[in-house]
Amino acid sequence: MIALENVCVSYTHLETAILQNVHLHISSGEWVSVVGPSGSGKTSLLKVIAGSLKNMEEHVTINDTPIYTLPTNERHAFLRNKVATVYQQFRLLPQFSVLENVMLPLLPYQKRKHLKDKAIQLIDEIGLHHRITHFPHQLSGGEQQRVAFARALLSEPTILLCDEPTGNLDSANRDIIIQLLKQIHAKGKTIILATHDPIVAEQADRTITIQDGVIHEGEVVE
Ligand SMILES: Nc1ncnc2c1ncn2[C@@H]1O[C@H](COP(=O)(O)OP(=O)(O)O)[C@@H](O)[C@H]1O
Ligand SMILES: [Mg+2]
Repeated sequence: MIALENVCVSYTHLETAILQNVHLHISSGEWVSVVGPSGSGKTSLLKVIAGSLKNMEEHVTINDTPIYTLPTNERHAFLRNKVATVYQQFRLLPQFSVLENVMLPLLPYQKRKHLKDKAIQLIDEIGLHHRITHFPHQLSGGEQQRVAFARALLSEPTILLCDEPTGNLDSANRDIIIQLLKQIHAKGKTIILATHDPIVAEQADRTITIQDGVIHEGEVVE
């Protein structure tokens, strides 16, 4: 369960807060779409939940732990196997293979053999077994994004944050990602997904709209 109580986000050069007194509860296993105009604060909201903003004194709890009261190192350790993020720009490392890209973020924390076995299994599950030794430039955008999902899932997170995950993909690859999201959701993971694409947004159990710093339940049509 994720709870935000009275959360504000502001950036120093901006006069008004990007998010104002946000109250948001997301139950475990829920799939929530976050929509709203560009610059409305969708990415900022995901960062709040990822524990990656600074100077957040407000009340943000994950499984009843107020994450921002933890020292930074402890917060990252607490979140490492709970929250993972997939980005619009796949963010794979070009000099490493598919298998290495999936394993790399966790190599400092877990045994190599264990990670390799899990990574191979995840790469099989996303249908890219034949690509395991390939490098990012040899893959299509859709394939690269599937690798990014495998990388995010390696830590077995309970919460998956997706920031415009289909923003760089054509509709065929978007549909493949939607199917992948459905499988992930069916496994009980919580998905919070920012998107501009109504077809992606409507897959969720619930949609929230950010507008002028305020979160509205449902889709707000201007
Ligand atoms: N690190 C930052 N420093 C200063 N301003 C930022 C930062 N990140 C985002 N902003 C500003 O905050 C607003 C909301 O950004 P963002 O959360 O990325 O919105 P969205 O994802 O909905 O496009 C924008 O005006 C953006 O320019
Ligand atoms: Mg954004």
